[in-house]
Amino acid sequence: MTRAASPPPQVLMEKKLFIKTYGCQMNAYDSARMADLMAPFGYAAAESPEGADLVILNTCHIREKAAEKTFSELGTIRRLKRARERQGGRMIVAVAGCVAQAEGAEILERAPYVDLVFGPQTYHRLPEMVARALLAAGEQVLDTSFPAEPKFDYLPETSAAPGISAFLTVQEGCDRFCTFCVVPYTRGAEYSRPAAEIIAEARRLAASGAREITLLGQNVNAYHGTSPGGGEWGLGELIGALAGIPGIARLRYTTSHPKDVDDRLIAAHRDVPALMPFLHLPVQSGSDRVLRAMNRRHTADQYSRTVERLRRARPDLALSSDFIVGFPGESDADFDATLALSRDIGFAQAFSFKYSPRPGTPAASAANQVPEPVKAERLAVLQALLHDGQRLFNEASVGCVLPVLFEKPGRHEGQLVGRSPYLQSVHAEAGVERIGEIVPVTIRAALPNSLAGAIVAQSPAVAEHRA
Ligand code: 5AD
Ligand code: SF4
Repeated sequence: MTRAASPPPQVLMEKKLFIKTYGCQMNAYDSARMADLMAPFGYAAAESPEGADLVILNTCHIREKAAEKTFSELGTIRRLKRARERQGGRMIVAVAGCVAQAEGAEILERAPYVDLVFGPQTYHRLPEMVARALLAAGEQVLDTSFPAEPKFDYLPETSAAPGISAFLTVQEGCDRFCTFCVVPYTRGAEYSRPAAEIIAEARRLAASGAREITLLGQNVNAYHGTSPGGGEWGLGELIGALAGIPGIARLRYTTSHPKDVDDRLIAAHRDVPALMPFLHLPVQSGSDRVLRAMNRRHTADQYSRTVERLRRARPDLALSSDFIVGFPGESDADFDATLALSRDIGFAQAFSFKYSPRPGTPAASAANQVPEPVKAERLAVLQALLHDGQRLFNEASVGCVLPVLFEKPGRHEGQLVGRSPYLQSVHAEAGVERIGEIVPVTIRAALPNSLAGAIVAQSPAVAEHRA
């Protein structure tokens, strides 16, 4: 369904749109959709904000300093806006995303040169908001509501070429309310798009050249959308259906909650060869006491058992995680439990953060905050362990032949970069005509964040297969 406003013919002059995206892949997806929304109105993507007609900062509020970063970036944009005005032009400045949702009124007050502020659930109204700002010189527009109708009903079809590896938002928002997290407040209640809509978008992506699709959602495995037959599908069934789309060779999904890994999803890891053997499954902490205070609703042991079940379904599954250190009340013993869990599971990669109090979340007002130097020390210890794990995982690939989906030219002439099934970045010498192909590559060396390899001599493109 496409209900975006159509442009009056007189505005179809080429205009420049600059979008700066912070944070997660869902923000990247949203930014691409904002560009799609403005394209019919003559706005073409620009590489820099200088001389742009519309500048959008698509912000992230998940961890510290988000608001400060936004205000400092706005200072630069303000100078460019004034320069544009001195030349008789006009620059509309918009702040979008989760900082806008959380601190919209403050942004308008502190930065009066900002024209538009809107959250992740209202950006489908962008053309109308821009038109309002253009017509009413100086009027600021704030739209941080949570509309009853999902924005997806109003978004136009993607127009830009998606690239070999594309993102597709299938679920948004979160009802889990982990006590450290702003997402339930900034992105709102959990919503799953109907499967038919997702399948149609995936077909369009495949038709425009995408070979891999990563399904996105704040809590993507809580997906429970209407199936094409009118029933309900979980993520497992959705993945099964998407795997049948011609041209789509690989599927991934992110980010998941351990409590929402159900039998159907585990079965998909066993039965759907296109579902890649890599899973980002944040655990946050290895201490049951901390997990309880975080309202994660699972224990360390339950997490480990879920991982065991997944690995039984797909023995080569590589795991990734998020960790928070220094959550309020975290003791040395709690932190040791996190270290023990990381060693036990053996993560192929992981992200770790110092706890940062997010305004309005329950943990932010806890009295037992952990001192900054303790957080910093714990983070260094955990990161050293996780980096070691990543190094070991990558080194174990040396000598193996991995099917690599080539995505783009590498840094050096004559080189392409792609991904292994386990999401490792792999570079190898190859001609650009092999972009989009899945090719067997012998891994020769493991670098800290990537692998170097050579295409198996005279190898044709391979069909993806179970390792
Ligand atoms: N402080 C530190 N890290 C956080 N994350 C989310 N909220 C916070 C916070 N308040 C981390 C979690 C989450 C990842 C996206 O960001 O680990 O999984
Ligand atoms: Fe935030 Fe994820 Fe917890 Fe939802 S499940 S509240 S998005 S950390």
